[in-house]
Amino acid sequence: MSTKKIAPSILAADFANLQRDIEMVNHSEADWFHIDIMDGVFVPNISFGMPVLKAINKHATKTIDVHLMIVDPDRYIQTFADLGANVLTVHYEACTHLHRTLQAIKAAGMKAGVALNPHTNINLLEDVINDIDLVCIMSVNPGFGGQSFIEHTFSKIKKLKALITEKGAATEIEIDGGVNDKNAKALVDAGADVLVAGSFVFRSENPTQTIQNLKKIVS
Ligand code: DX5
Ligand code: ZN
Repeated sequence: MSTKKIAPSILAADFANLQRDIEMVNHSEADWFHIDIMDGVFVPNISFGMPVLKAINKHATKTIDVHLMIVDPDRYIQTFADLGANVLTVHYEACTHLHRTLQAIKAAGMKAGVALNPHTNINLLEDVINDIDLVCIMSVNPGFGGQSFIEHTFSKIKKLKALITEKGAATEIEIDGGVNDKNAKALVDAGADVLVAGSFVFRSENPTQTIQNLKKIVS
C-alpha cells in the first residue's frame, strides 16, 4: 500500500461551482486539497485570498495544503492557521529569515513547507532541511496552472532525496506544476511523496476517475 499522495489544485476548479468541486475531491481518492494563494507581486497573477479559503474550509474534509506565492508571508501565518490550513508552504525566495518563518508556522500548529522556484538550488536547504516538513519543488514557474512540466525537476528530486537521507530528516517531497499520468510514476520513482495536479484533474472528462488513475499509477 503506497503512502504517496495526490493533491488536486483548486486553482483549476470551476470557481462558480466551488462547493461541487470540493465535494468531488472529498469523495475521491485524493489525499490533500492544494490551495494556491497568489498576490500579484511575488508572482505575476492574483488567484484568491482569505474569504475563498474560508469558504473552501467549510466543505473540505481532507488536509488543506496552502501554497503561498506572496511576499512577506510572515504577516499572515496566524491568519492562515485560523482559516484552517494544515500545511503552510512559503517560498524560499520570499523569506529573508526562513528559519524563523518555519518556527512561526509550527508554533501556529501547522506543518511547515518551503517551495523552490525552478532556478533555486536544492543545496540552499542544507542548513534548514531538518526544520522542514515539506519541500515543494516547483516544476513550472509559479503563477499559472496549465503550464508544461520542466524536465530538470527530476534531478532536483534526486538531489533533495539524497539530502533528506543524509541529514536523517523526515521531510516530504511535493511536486507542483505540469503533473499528469505520463510523468507521475517517474516522479514517485525519483523520490516524490506528494503530487499536485490542477488542470490534468479538473480539465479531464471525469475528475474523480482521473484522481483514481493517478493514485493507481503512484501505488
Ligand atoms: C502554479 C501553482 C500550481 C498549479 C498547478 O503556480 O502553484 O499549484 O495550480 O497547476 P497544473 O497542475 O495545471 O500545472
Ligand atoms: Zn501550488
